[in-house]
Amino acid sequence: MWNSTKITQLLGIKYPILQGPMGVGYSTAALLASVSNAGGLGSYGAYTLTPEEILEADKSIKAATNKPYNINLWVNDVDKTLANFPQEKIEKIKQIYKPYFDELGIPLPDLSSDIPSKFEKQVEVLFEIKPAVFSFIFGIPSQEILKESRRLGIKTVGGATTLEEALALEDAQVDAIVASGFEAGGHRPSFLRPAQDSFTGLFTLLQQLKAKIKTPIIAAGGITDAKGIAAALTLGADAVQLGTAFMVTDQSGAHPIHKEVLFSGALNHTTVSKSLTGRMGRMVSNRISEGVPFETEVLPFPLQTKLIAPLRVAALAQNRTDMISFWSGQNNNSLKHHDADELMQELIKETGNLIK
Ligand SMILES: Cc1cc2nc3c(=O)[nH]c(=O)nc-3n(C[C@H](O)[C@H](O)[C@H](O)COP(=O)(O)O)c2cc1C
Repeated sequence: MWNSTKITQLLGIKYPILQGPMGVGYSTAALLASVSNAGGLGSYGAYTLTPEEILEADKSIKAATNKPYNINLWVNDVDKTLANFPQEKIEKIKQIYKPYFDELGIPLPDLSSDIPSKFEKQVEVLFEIKPAVFSFIFGIPSQEILKESRRLGIKTVGGATTLEEALALEDAQVDAIVASGFEAGGHRPSFLRPAQDSFTGLFTLLQQLKAKIKTPIIAAGGITDAKGIAAALTLGADAVQLGTAFMVTDQSGAHPIHKEVLFSGALNHTTVSKSLTGRMGRMVSNRISEGVPFETEVLPFPLQTKLIAPLRVAALAQNRTDMISFWSGQNNNSLKHHDADELMQELIKETGNLIK
């Protein structure tokens, strides 16, 4: 049966279909539960949350499902360059964005580089919550964290954008690896080479991993329907992870305008840019991603996100969609499901029709 794979056995789920974790307001207990309750694995992106907020979110998750689910964190959630980033450089970089702020009639925000990492404290509450799965990107947690996860029976899943990263994750003995193709929506979670030197498409990445890796592989990037699932499984993936297709459903926390843009029938060309958050991410091209060339120095992550945050709020309020980062994978022209349950049911039924 197509739906019995190393991943379904490992995670105790019925179908090898994972909802990609999404951060900052996109994840909801309702979306996670739709996917987990249908026999896949729902996920919750928690990297920006305080430990208390994670505990709160987990209460709503546990009220919505008693099936396995995944909580996702970013191992490296603050760029190393941030700590000593000179204030005068912050002020200089802010000026690059002044024309956009002026256009929306709002002031540039005051910014300070004093932003501590949350990761270690977040992991502590994760160990209290004990989700079935702890997935992470932007690096590999310490051996102590991985060992404690194993002791608590929490399966660990790391994200890789290159074969090198997958080999490093396998060396660290994670339970499964997400092969994150260049097509994928959201941040490019590279951690060994720079993101711009880690642009492998999913087809190639899957074949590279399959040849060298024994750890079960989850394919992510550009999969939106049963044909995509069948293709990834045929290339050796043990499961698939869909982000954009779930992000546009009613159950996701994405802004209604974001969903509207992706369902609008417009071409919605995507690009990768660090100009909105400080790290490379795939989004629908917009005036800022086009207006700030790749070579331009931006603020370290997450300070650049803090610079852009008020601009985003004002742009949404003024319906200036040309200045907003609408995250999206490349494969965004044939999205059709508004309901996550319907999407799951169709994926399950049609994949079963395509492969046995
Ligand atoms: C808005 C958005 C936010 C995301 N945030 C995260 C995140 O916090 N952690 C993570 O591991 N992946 C994150 N991703 C990646 C997804 O989990 C998934 O791997 C990716 O979207 C798959 O590619 P697709 O969008 O082409 O389906 C995000 C994706 C999107 C679209």
